[in-house]
Amino acid sequence: MGFKTDFLWGGATAANQYEGGYLSGGKGLSTLDAITGGSHESPRMITYKTKEGKIERVTREQALPEGAVGYIDEDTYYPSHVATDFYHHYKEDIALFAEMGFKCFRMSISWARICPKGTMEINEEGLDFYDRVFDELIAHNIEPVVTINHFDIPMYLADEHDGWSDRQTIDNFIFFCETIFKRYKDKVKYWMTFNEINFLRSWTQIGIHNNDTQTKYQAAHHLFVASAKAVLLGKKINPDFQIGMMVAYIPSYPLSCRPEDVLAALQFNREQEFYIDVQVKGYYPAHKVKQFEREGVVIKKEAGDDELIAKGTVDYIGFSYYMSTVSTANPDKVKYVGGNQMPAVKNPYLEESEWGWGVDPTGLRIALSSLYDRYNVPLFIVENGFGAVDTIEADGSIQDDYRIDYFQKHVAAMHDAVTLDGVDLIGYTTWGCIDLVSAGTGEMKKRYGFIYVDMDDKGNGTLKRTKKKSFDWYKQVIASNGEELAN
Ligand code: BG6
Repeated sequence: MGFKTDFLWGGATAANQYEGGYLSGGKGLSTLDAITGGSHESPRMITYKTKEGKIERVTREQALPEGAVGYIDEDTYYPSHVATDFYHHYKEDIALFAEMGFKCFRMSISWARICPKGTMEINEEGLDFYDRVFDELIAHNIEPVVTINHFDIPMYLADEHDGWSDRQTIDNFIFFCETIFKRYKDKVKYWMTFNEINFLRSWTQIGIHNNDTQTKYQAAHHLFVASAKAVLLGKKINPDFQIGMMVAYIPSYPLSCRPEDVLAALQFNREQEFYIDVQVKGYYPAHKVKQFEREGVVIKKEAGDDELIAKGTVDYIGFSYYMSTVSTANPDKVKYVGGNQMPAVKNPYLEESEWGWGVDPTGLRIALSSLYDRYNVPLFIVENGFGAVDTIEADGSIQDDYRIDYFQKHVAAMHDAVTLDGVDLIGYTTWGCIDLVSAGTGEMKKRYGFIYVDMDDKGNGTLKRTKKKSFDWYKQVIASNGEELAN
């Protein structure tokens, strides 16, 4: 017995990294429209205008001054504006996904395309666009899997409401959810509320100007309430909806069997599990309540919030898995490597990608088992993949054996988790199944796709699509329901 017969094989993308058309069809501005490209050496920068009218830049980790608003500087290149242009290429791309045999396709809906300011005004043209996309997917027997919000927020809500720190953002978000749930109720069954909810990154992601712990956790509370309300509303609109949460899961190993290192690993893991606990178990875990008390964090709750969170739990856990990490009680005495949204302690037993991300297929089996043992709900791997520089050979081919190698090992690990550990896994969508803009560095150079897109880090390129060697390999994996992994 291997994967289920209706296992959801497919690929994953996000609007801000793939769709482009940033002002087409009545779309409003999103925070990620005002973030530059970057690289290993230079971080992506937010461009903004101060209250006094000065144009400035900060990294995503820094706070924006009070009253600052996102600003698009005409002389600056912003990768999200065109990205790899799904907006104009969706038919061609979906045909390629169908050729690979995709059973599902994960994408996000741009909130600012449906509600240009994030408020309760609808852009009909935006709704039409996604209708066309879903119709095209369904015509190819591909199940849409929709992330309602992937890493951004309409710029107006960030600038005028301070994003998710304002309780009113919940109502605006629920209006957006109601609009898309009602419109697509017969086209979309699988939904996820917030992408990688454990990475609450400042202004770009959740629209907050001030990055302190109090603001961050207050915003998280609003996200939890919004997610619970969305689940309850979605189930009313269509009881068949499957609504999940989404977390970046990076299992951590203790650096040694020193009890202090083991405790450090436990603490690292439960920081990410906190977000799952609230959305799957329906309450704040005791360790978080104690942390808030110690750190003087006071969550403003309204009457009924706890009951809502308890009732509006999700149907499944969607998670991204790229790598594991290592924890130690002496973090300043160890070497660091790159990582998914944050640097990781170097694990001497693992090889690393060109971006320094440790490659750990066994970590995926560990992640699946830990999550299933702890929560006992269906799991969906909605991101996994290998960011690498691809070279076009003289004959025009792209021989990405390194990517095939990565996927072979990860699919084998998840096969073990299913067949040996009994994990209830419903699907697997590889990240960036077609090349798109990197979220971390804003580069095109870091590619994940089975399909190459001719676009560089400066916005030059024809956007032509070319199949890589991994395209046929993944097609064979899907056709054999994950049994045939040979290259
Ligand atoms: C996840 C995000 O963190 O990792 C994606 O959900 C992102 O949006 C992916 O693209 C890979 O990260 P990066 O930085 O290589 O694009």
